[in-house]
Amino acid sequence: MSITFYEKTKVFSLQTKNSVWQMMVSKYGHLLHLYYGNKIPEGELSYLVRGINRGFSGAPYEAGEDRGYSLDTYPQEISTFGVGDYRESCLHVVHEDGSQMLELLYDSCRIWQGKYDLPGLPAVWAGQEEAQTLEIVLKDKASPVEVVLYYGVLEKQDVITRACQIRNRGAGIWLERALSACLDIQRNDLEMITFYGRHTMERSLERGMCRHGKIQADSMRGVSSHQQNPFVILCEEGAKEEWGECYGMSLIYSGSFLAQAEVDQLDQTRFVMGIHPQGFRWRLEKGETFTAPEVIFSYSERGYGKLSGNFHRLYRENLMRSKYRDQRRPVLINNWEATEFHFTEEGLVSLAQDAKELGVELFVMDDGWFGGRDHDLCGLGDWKANPAKLPNGVEGLARKIHGLGMQFGIWIEPEMVNEDSDLFRAHPEWCLRAPGRTPNRERGQLVLDMSNSQVRDYLYESIGGILKQAQADYVKWDMNRNLSDVWSSACPADRQGEIGHRYVLGVYELMERFVSHFPDILWEGCSGGGGRFDAGILYYMPQIWCSDNTDAIERIFIQYGTSFGYPVSSMGAHVSVSPNLQTGRRTSLGTRATVAMAGAFGYELDTRKLSREERQLVKGQIRWYKQYQELIFGGDYYRLTDAEENREFAAWQFVSRDQKASVVSAVCLHARSNPLFWRVRLKGLKEEGWYQVREERMTDEGPLEGKDNETSKRECLICPGSALMYAGVNLPVFWGDYESVRYLVEEVRHQAE
Ligand code: DGJ
Repeated sequence: MSITFYEKTKVFSLQTKNSVWQMMVSKYGHLLHLYYGNKIPEGELSYLVRGINRGFSGAPYEAGEDRGYSLDTYPQEISTFGVGDYRESCLHVVHEDGSQMLELLYDSCRIWQGKYDLPGLPAVWAGQEEAQTLEIVLKDKASPVEVVLYYGVLEKQDVITRACQIRNRGAGIWLERALSACLDIQRNDLEMITFYGRHTMERSLERGMCRHGKIQADSMRGVSSHQQNPFVILCEEGAKEEWGECYGMSLIYSGSFLAQAEVDQLDQTRFVMGIHPQGFRWRLEKGETFTAPEVIFSYSERGYGKLSGNFHRLYRENLMRSKYRDQRRPVLINNWEATEFHFTEEGLVSLAQDAKELGVELFVMDDGWFGGRDHDLCGLGDWKANPAKLPNGVEGLARKIHGLGMQFGIWIEPEMVNEDSDLFRAHPEWCLRAPGRTPNRERGQLVLDMSNSQVRDYLYESIGGILKQAQADYVKWDMNRNLSDVWSSACPADRQGEIGHRYVLGVYELMERFVSHFPDILWEGCSGGGGRFDAGILYYMPQIWCSDNTDAIERIFIQYGTSFGYPVSSMGAHVSVSPNLQTGRRTSLGTRATVAMAGAFGYELDTRKLSREERQLVKGQIRWYKQYQELIFGGDYYRLTDAEENREFAAWQFVSRDQKASVVSAVCLHARSNPLFWRVRLKGLKEEGWYQVREERMTDEGPLEGKDNETSKRECLICPGSALMYAGVNLPVFWGDYESVRYLVEEVRHQAE
């Protein structure tokens, strides 16, 4: 049993493999948080609750002279506005009479086997045996508003999920904010790690102390955004990969969000997470329920490396649903960086044929195939083949690609419209914009009103028809701007505050329709690269294009930051041309592949322009990737260097589940004269196992096996796992920036003679 209810003290205890979450119903009926942290196998912690009478922190009326009892100082499970807790509130309602109080008191609970789900929203799923659910009903002291808190306990995955529903049983109310969860931690020595960025430089790690007052990571862009990510970590000051207590929180949501930490007057830290309240206002009529998205919590007593591992496993095993989460994914070629909008059917077929000769399995036609789309100012919304480029339609091209023995993939951007399109001319009211105002434009496009079911039906019919006719095997779902002018012609004036969230619900509804009708398609999310890289999308699509930045060196940092919260199998990563089109940087083909192989691998260049030697290299890379993809996707991933501290080289490692095989990659970021000794300590191996280590150096000439230097000659190092993990492996002396090396580590049965 992972959930225990101690009747006498009214304490709930949620147990995962390595953590415990406890809360209790107080003597006046409030649900107080007790503890979230390292496992305490038995017992309840109600003794932790202690009230001290303080000035300017009042007590509920019922507490009478019990003045130490204050909602402003006690840790809460869900914080509410208007009744004396002056810290950040999760819930804020306005009742029919204009009053804004919500004081939630315990009503009942239910514990059941299995995991709850959330109507219309992505959420972690689990089999009956894998999870337990605790459902707690709280009722407002003076109105018929009820709040249901859901806790999903996935013991083996070391994860607790939370969600909340607000039910209105009386006259209509307004929800001014509906954040999903609150975590009150009674300490003030926590850092908050967030992942900030911009287009082509997503998810850079940043850390800072929580302090009196509030710090936050948020997006008000209508999507989770390039600029901040809805995955954050609270950790003990100075926490590292393998040291320090860490709490990871991930919101399964793709719209505007708020993640905020606040240190209060008593040096306690309150963390809240959910839909961003700015611009949000939801009308809840009698009998209606509002569901706030799910937050995943995981705790590690030993650094954030373990936390990342927990999230990676959970997403692969209990969030992604695509059949491709367990299947080998095809090596693809995408024509975007090779051709942008300028291609013909003949040209695409010739590129595909060439790539096929190298071992590529899937050809993806990117933007530019529909409407009058010869540049980015027109065509979006007209999901019909452009006859000048595709005289035989998408179907004709797909037939030819399939005829080559390859899979066929296609790019779409369903949520957008250009003013220069037949769709806009026919339905100008289908985009988000307010009457009497000119809308903000980005990349020359406007946003379709995804809250409108007519819009979704049109998109499903027009795009679905093409996917069916072309028998598409892969789809890249792009989204190239953020939301502004959020106003829907399909919605009355007093409900426009719902449109931001209804947009996200509409996107999810359409995604659900597509993925359930086309379950054999490999779906890849995208938003100008990684502008919507979140757990919500992974519920529908097993991979997301990680960034429009394909420079191998910049990608090391982007993939590093992304790996804190997301598995490598979710990161689309391609080998592109050198010098790189975004940065002008030159890197070897080997290094470009080494970096892209830490993800869902493919090529995005004109392979016909490769030299004979390069073609040989590409063939070898594809063979290599096919051999190791299962290990890379299914195994455990470890960051071996700290990208913030080590600007000399970067290293990472994959270890198979059975710990018998491992791949280590390292890239030199800054070659040195009179170099220092560079060494990496491996992780995740069996201490007592013996391993053979083979080195493959990547240069422009390809793998440099044992050619020129001392370390390369040590082609077959054999030593125990403990040596590799505690003493480490010497990296070679690199000649030139951006050279790379890979180590293949395999368990051998006996010690070398
Ligand atoms: C942005 C994507 O991230 C790119 O890969 C490409 O698909 C372009 N959009 C096409 O417009």
